[in-house]
Amino acid sequence: MSRELFQPSPGLAAKAHADAATYQQMYDRSVNDPEGFWGDQADRLDWIKAPTRIKNTSFAYDNVSIKWYEDGELNVSANCIDRHLETRGDQTAIIWEPDDPDAEAQHITYRDLHANVCKFANVLKEMGVGKGDRVVLYMPMIPQAAYAMLACARVGAIHSVVFAGFSADALAARIDACGAAVVVTADEAPRGGRNTPLKVNADVAFGKCKSSPKMLVVRRTGGDIPMVDGRDFWLHEMEARVADDCVPEAMNAEDPLFILYTSGSTGAPKGVVHTSGGYLVYASMTHQYVFDYHDGDIFWCTADVGWVTGHSYIVYGPLANGATTLMFEGVPTYPDAGRFWAVCAKHKVNQFYTAPTAIRALMGQGKEWVEKHDLSSLRILGTVGEPINPEAWNWYNDVVGHGRCPIVDTWWQTETGGHLLTPLPGATATKPGSATKPFFGVQPVILDAQTAEEQTETAAEGVLCLKDSWPGQMRTCWGDHDRFVQAYFTDYKGYYFSGDGCRRDADGYYWITGRVDDVINVSGHRMGTAEVESALVAHPKVSESAVVGYPHPVKGQGIYAYVTLMAGEDPTDELRKELEVWVRKEIGPIAKPDLIQWAPGLPKTRSGKIMRRILRKIAENDFDSLGDTSTLAEPAVVDDLVENRMKE
Ligand code: WTA
Repeated sequence: MSRELFQPSPGLAAKAHADAATYQQMYDRSVNDPEGFWGDQADRLDWIKAPTRIKNTSFAYDNVSIKWYEDGELNVSANCIDRHLETRGDQTAIIWEPDDPDAEAQHITYRDLHANVCKFANVLKEMGVGKGDRVVLYMPMIPQAAYAMLACARVGAIHSVVFAGFSADALAARIDACGAAVVVTADEAPRGGRNTPLKVNADVAFGKCKSSPKMLVVRRTGGDIPMVDGRDFWLHEMEARVADDCVPEAMNAEDPLFILYTSGSTGAPKGVVHTSGGYLVYASMTHQYVFDYHDGDIFWCTADVGWVTGHSYIVYGPLANGATTLMFEGVPTYPDAGRFWAVCAKHKVNQFYTAPTAIRALMGQGKEWVEKHDLSSLRILGTVGEPINPEAWNWYNDVVGHGRCPIVDTWWQTETGGHLLTPLPGATATKPGSATKPFFGVQPVILDAQTAEEQTETAAEGVLCLKDSWPGQMRTCWGDHDRFVQAYFTDYKGYYFSGDGCRRDADGYYWITGRVDDVINVSGHRMGTAEVESALVAHPKVSESAVVGYPHPVKGQGIYAYVTLMAGEDPTDELRKELEVWVRKEIGPIAKPDLIQWAPGLPKTRSGKIMRRILRKIAENDFDSLGDTSTLAEPAVVDDLVENRMKE
């Protein structure tokens, strides 16, 4: 690992929201006096009723309860829109860059945003949506996705965005899990020059749902799609029927703002619940400090709104701060590998935030794609989603940032709502590959994985936990608080357990070493191995399956599936293709196994438990550390698997 330190430039530090001394002073107060610190931070929002109770949180195993600003009342959409109208009504809130580079970009002002969100909110009301109802969004990266999120917030409904890359089956499961009253989608989603048939997928999903929600359809491409009378409604037709203005609903700080389903180590995806007040304070503060956002800056986060990164850093954080946020419909390699940089140059982007997998993929295309474009507007670069290898970090720093843009490597999770470990551009010297130091109010600890003992030496390695709450923390799993307690507060009592392994070096810098559970991280997307396994065994020809991650040069981790077929089935290449298509249909393209190995048997203990550790080692091509296999029920299966390890 690199030991080089990159100091913030004095010029940047002087103008930044925090230099090193300010960071230390604010950090100390945030942990010594959280009530005072976060009480002051509440002032970044407009409250209908200002909170007097700031923090009321417990990580105790038998009483996990997290409440921030619990007697406050506010409306999130009013905070992201209405309060900016007087001072910045004509400022651009959202720059929308379409998939097709020749199509015109849109500049949506705060005034336009207000008009669109009010209309959208009234349409939802007209469809019967009110406070506490759930609305699923299955949307392309178009401004209407943001309007829909903010419209839900305006009427007090809870949105649950399902990434448009998920299949009809995955969509149906999430619609049922949260009991959605309405599903918002679009006719088609253009990406990389191809259209995904979202409405048709949604129709298939509706056919599988136990519940019967209504559908609201945005016209994006004008493609020919069927509409079901009495069930499906066009947004533009509905908008013509409703009033222009919509008064925002007064919400308690602890009323849910959204649910986001994310993969865990076992079972179906968990419905991560975020609430209104604490989440917005945290999204707003991290956006301002971590990206050193100043008025007038153009901020671009390349994530999809289907992930938490899109929620916090395309929509809520930037808009709460009155920022200009860029929303991109396309992909980094269309029409060519220079698209990201063309968009940066075209819109004079100041802060650029993306995933290491995208950096590695673009690095592989050569630096000429970057050098063609004027990137002089860039000031801060960010990464998220997975550890960044020093080689990619250095390329990002040299080729994209010309050595003058600090890189913020932000470690966080769907569960955390916003950044937890991250440099601040004017305050923190960086080391390639390290997420560096905690954000304000965040108290990371490293525990020994076996003994659960807190490691008090500065240099330490173990599992990463958090000692106390921060306002952006998830509150519960939708409809299943026990699962919340079980997943995050049971293995290491008294702490929030992140699921990540971590090393702290002698300077107190944190280095994430990857998941220690059965979650894998494919191109920065979280995937539960159990989900892929259950998709595979649902195929009539599959008897058993075990899925693990393995190192992949571009994706970070790839999906390696061991598959045992039903007796009499032939292990052919056609069947392999069939299984790939099957998993895409069951979950979505991001879950497609990279390698499928036919396994006549899986290594199991005598009690029938699959030895995943051995399977991981084989997938990693690490045959020397398979450990003792003599206790297995059938030791010979390991030899067969080693001999037939798949090659890329
Ligand atoms: C991983 C994405 C190393 C980590 C915001 C975490 C990272 C999981 C980083 C959460 C980073 C995220 N360095 N690993 N900077 N950021 N991760 O919920 O394993 O999609 O637990 O949230 O991604 O993924 P999620």
